[in-house]
Amino acid sequence: MAVLSNEEITNIRNRANIVNIIGNYLNLEKKGKNYFGICPFHDDHTPSMSVSPEKQIYTCFVCGASGNVFTFIKDYENISFIEAVNKVAEFSGISINKNINYVKKYDKEYKIYDLALKFYKNNLKSKLGIAAKKYLNDRNISDEIIDEFDIGVSFNDNNLSKLLKSKNYDEDMLLNIGLVNKEQDIYDIFRNRIMFPIHNSNGDCVGFSARIYNNESDSKYINTKETYIFKKGEILFNYHRALREAKKTKTLIICEGQMDAIRIYSSGIKNVCATMGTALTNFHINLIKKLNVKVILNMDSDSAGIKAALQNGELLSKNNIEVSIVTLAGAKDPDEYIIKNGIEQYKESLKHSISLFEFKMNYLKNGKNLNQIDELTKYVNSVIDELNKSDDEILKNITINKLSEEYNIDKNLLLNKLIPKEKKDIVKVSKKKIKLNQNIRAVEEILYYMMNNVKYAKLFTKKLNYIPDRTYFDIEKDIQAYIILNNTINLADFISYETNNEKEKLVLQIINNHNEDIEMSELEFINYINIVNKWIQDNKISELKIELKQENDINRKKEITDLIAKIKRGSEEYGK
Ligand code: UTP
Ligand code: MN
Repeated sequence: MAVLSNEEITNIRNRANIVNIIGNYLNLEKKGKNYFGICPFHDDHTPSMSVSPEKQIYTCFVCGASGNVFTFIKDYENISFIEAVNKVAEFSGISINKNINYVKKYDKEYKIYDLALKFYKNNLKSKLGIAAKKYLNDRNISDEIIDEFDIGVSFNDNNLSKLLKSKNYDEDMLLNIGLVNKEQDIYDIFRNRIMFPIHNSNGDCVGFSARIYNNESDSKYINTKETYIFKKGEILFNYHRALREAKKTKTLIICEGQMDAIRIYSSGIKNVCATMGTALTNFHINLIKKLNVKVILNMDSDSAGIKAALQNGELLSKNNIEVSIVTLAGAKDPDEYIIKNGIEQYKESLKHSISLFEFKMNYLKNGKNLNQIDELTKYVNSVIDELNKSDDEILKNITINKLSEEYNIDKNLLLNKLIPKEKKDIVKVSKKKIKLNQNIRAVEEILYYMMNNVKYAKLFTKKLNYIPDRTYFDIEKDIQAYIILNNTINLADFISYETNNEKEKLVLQIINNHNEDIEMSELEFINYINIVNKWIQDNKISELKIELKQENDINRKKEITDLIAKIKRGSEEYGK
């Protein structure tokens, strides 16, 4: 772990402006004192996340996500707290101590992959690598592209295994991460293949896609097996390189093969990534959502590619990601198309990408002879079926008009085949706040006040000094400790002070449950103190009542009864 002190962390947070930093990830719009954006932590359609420049925190009133600038980056980028602190420092132009080295969770594994990447890359520069390099150059992969994508080659030997062995890495780990296998001794898995490094979304190399170049009889590509750091369904090839440009242009091109992504990217269109031959998964959807982009699908031209476009298009659309589809005439994939026609023509075809619906229509038409009555009937019926899946009234109208005109079909007949849209109630996004019982609500408000202002922390000690719930009371103690340490307190810094997972969660919950609409005041605070005080007294009374039942001594019974009466009077007085 890093050796960043709390002061350093606070300092970095103080110099970072949460609105600017979150603004790098989301479009924020100012409304009143706060800024609002589409929450990236749930499937959001209206801006439910508010960012407060005053408090330097964010809260989503639908899913409950909340925190400071560090938690946002940590959760958004899926990285550790310390990495997030580093990122924030970077964003704010703060150079932090060079000797702060944070350890990524799979740092060892990433280092090994980095070593393998360099090893294979070096092979390609050696004499034995000439044939592989010629293959690449013949495919219009220049030396610059080779370098940028760290392309390498594996030979028919066990030299990588030997290298890894000499470094004394844990053998089980080596076997688990998919670079070597073992019989008597460990040996190299990848042999005689062009090696394309594959990175996770943070840019760590976690696998390879390996292509034949001199042995046509073998399967074309072998990829690293599924491992705990390499899951095909979670990786988009080139994502880490593409994300900046994708956010800028608000568009992401997705193709199938890494060769296609490499071709498009190196031709200057940098917002491109590849699925590596698998269908898009929900995990991919999350990666894409983080970018806040529309997607242009550019799958291969064969029937598998068309199916992939339909399937991926459907998934994207279902997840409210705007999608269009581009088809490339006369080439099997984007790589081939660009080599044949040049990048300008490819750009042109991107401009002519069509909607998923239009793509479906073309697909339904495909192979049918619409001059024949039964095939035309089939086609029209299938279009109506598709329309009935959609809620888009305009789309329905345009399509019906088109069908009616193009094939001379009675428009009313077509309209009658549409299933009328039931009037769906507009589901009001209600503040999905857990209805907590009144006591817990009061405790949470008390802690919220205390996290904002030393005055309330002092008042708490004077008036109550106890919370009848262990975890909340622990947070209270942390607040006091924080104040002793820093002489001051604010929400945004206190969040990062709570490193215990359960307590951190609770702090975020407190922030999220706080009702912004009620102005904070001392009167309100005392009101909450009274509620909790009554709770404490009620607890005491219940305990005494149990004791009273079990007690046989008549004098003691009298004592307890008096005590109960006194507490009741006391809390009544207190309540006044
Ligand atoms: P393609 O067959 O479309 O490959 O497979 P490609 O991108 O055109 O490659 P080149 O141009 O022949 O070199 C698309 C993707 O599917 C995966 C690879 O990731 C490939 O990039 N694939 C393909 C495999 O994993 N194994 C295979 O045998 C073939
Ligand atoms: Mn290809």
